[in-house]
Amino acid sequence: MCGIVAYIGPREAYPILMKGLQRLEYRGYDSAGICMLNDDLKVFKCKGKVADLEEYVRGKDLKGTIGMAHTRWATHGEPNQINAHPHFSQNKRLAIIHNGIIENYAALRSELKNRGYTFTSDTDTEVLVHLIEDIKSHEKVSLEEAVRIALNQVIGAYAIVVLSKTSPDKIIAARKGSPLVIGIGKDEYFVASDATPIIEYTDNVVFLNDEEIAIIRRNEKLKIRTVRNQDKTPYIQKLEMSLNAIEKGGYEHFMLKEIFEQPRSIRDSMRGRLHLDLGLVTLGGIRDYEQKLLNAKRIIITACGTSWHAGLVGKYLIEDLARITVEVEYSSEFRYRNPIISEEDVVIAISQSGETADTLAAIELAKGKGATVLGICNVVGSSIARATHAGVYTHAGPEIGVASTKAFTAQVAVLTLWALLLAQRRGSMPMSQFRRILGELNTIPDKVEHTLKVNDKVRDIAATYINVTNALYLGRGINFPVALEGALKLKEISYIHAEGYPAAEMKHGPIALIDEHMPVFVIATRRGTYEKVISNIQEVKARKGQIIAIINEGDETVRKLADHYIEIPETEEMLVPLIATVPLQLLSYHMAVMRGCNVDQPRNLAKSVTVE
Ligand code: G6P
Repeated sequence: MCGIVAYIGPREAYPILMKGLQRLEYRGYDSAGICMLNDDLKVFKCKGKVADLEEYVRGKDLKGTIGMAHTRWATHGEPNQINAHPHFSQNKRLAIIHNGIIENYAALRSELKNRGYTFTSDTDTEVLVHLIEDIKSHEKVSLEEAVRIALNQVIGAYAIVVLSKTSPDKIIAARKGSPLVIGIGKDEYFVASDATPIIEYTDNVVFLNDEEIAIIRRNEKLKIRTVRNQDKTPYIQKLEMSLNAIEKGGYEHFMLKEIFEQPRSIRDSMRGRLHLDLGLVTLGGIRDYEQKLLNAKRIIITACGTSWHAGLVGKYLIEDLARITVEVEYSSEFRYRNPIISEEDVVIAISQSGETADTLAAIELAKGKGATVLGICNVVGSSIARATHAGVYTHAGPEIGVASTKAFTAQVAVLTLWALLLAQRRGSMPMSQFRRILGELNTIPDKVEHTLKVNDKVRDIAATYINVTNALYLGRGINFPVALEGALKLKEISYIHAEGYPAAEMKHGPIALIDEHMPVFVIATRRGTYEKVISNIQEVKARKGQIIAIINEGDETVRKLADHYIEIPETEEMLVPLIATVPLQLLSYHMAVMRGCNVDQPRNLAKSVTVE
């Protein structure tokens, strides 16, 4: 979703801002803009990609050591040049970039119109910059004070950066609900939506908290004040991210790199937590809440998108291994349906980015009702990581491709550890079984490594199906969420309509769609409901559907039935999702590439959805 980057310091700002925008491209956007402050505020913006903006500004006056830039993901008003950020105030002495939604913009807009302000765009953002100008000119206050007063009148979410022609050595930034990070270099400051544009310049950062305003002056110490006018001491943290982690490292796309990183990301997510020698699982982040979890009557998992699919796998794992009731709910539904939650409930919020607005709101709701809320997040220091009582980080490393891949398997790895930990403490499974699963889990990174060897074969299979318009994904038991995730990956990046279904449920609807043109991807690994899935495959074949089966190595039975098969190593039933997901990711990737789609930045999608 919208990306923000700003700079003040001794260097020319333009190259830093442009590179910053490129780093933020992964978040998803549809227009881009830049503002340089040199004597005057110079704003350039256009619809399209950062490369289009670069082309558009060629030959323009872009000098200056202070500036800001933005990628916009449209909410209010279509993606076009006028609605792109930055936006000027009426007197053109202020410019703003904004991520989030001003919910009371309509009321503010008509009030400002009555006061003589005219609006050139359809955005909620323009309302805010006019409001700041109005306060600044009427109350004769500093820029930071005008911003502060304006933010007190705003309902909604925001991360903003404001520049003023009359304060040429100052950046004002503020956040509520949408993330902002400030990088502190030598005599220079960087502001960004996340750390990726900052990492190559400094690893000293301050994560702004909600309702905090940063007052950033050239050659002065950073000041932070709250919207309620309290001064705060900036808390400087060290970034642990490396530059390599956010670059493609020889791969054609981030998505492919991230798929291939999975042996490492799964291993890193289990490191120091899975103790094979001791026959033990530990999760340091939730140690203080173990008792609460063990006493919980039920666990509610809440998440969105791919993280929700990981949550579904978590339900199968926790219920089967630890015998605790688990409900899994979309955060966007949970937050608005007045759910029954008590102090005895434990809520687990899962989020790669740690910034998903609906998941954050679900957390606040659950906390408000007294529940213990724990998190599984990938981004250290993110809003969800901070909003939860405690949690466990996945250590997948930065995920840049919009379609989530390594974050999913890392979440499932952590959920598996979580389920095993609860099972162990509750004594809900025999020690021999516990040790067997633990030992097997330890081999998963190697088995994923081995699975990745199917890449060439998967590419060939993908070529067969690039012109289809529909696809069906089937799985049963713990592989049902894998089918959902396989279908989501395909539709996200190739724009082929795909549905995931529990294999037997196919008879109650989707079977009507099956003909010789319909590819049906089936997870048909041994164990569990293997025989039942074979029957489902027969049902598809009887209607001339095309079967592409994920099977265990050497499985002659399904091999004979399938039009195509992809072999994966055998493992415990409960651990199959960690392996079976991988070829499905590769299939989607290759189909999308062959269809000429922008795999890393699919249309209309955002990496972290910071608006509801
Ligand atoms: C967006 C992304 C998905 C992601 C979902 C939840 O829709 O495009 O890939 O699964 O948000 O994001 P989160 O960061 O909370 O896991």
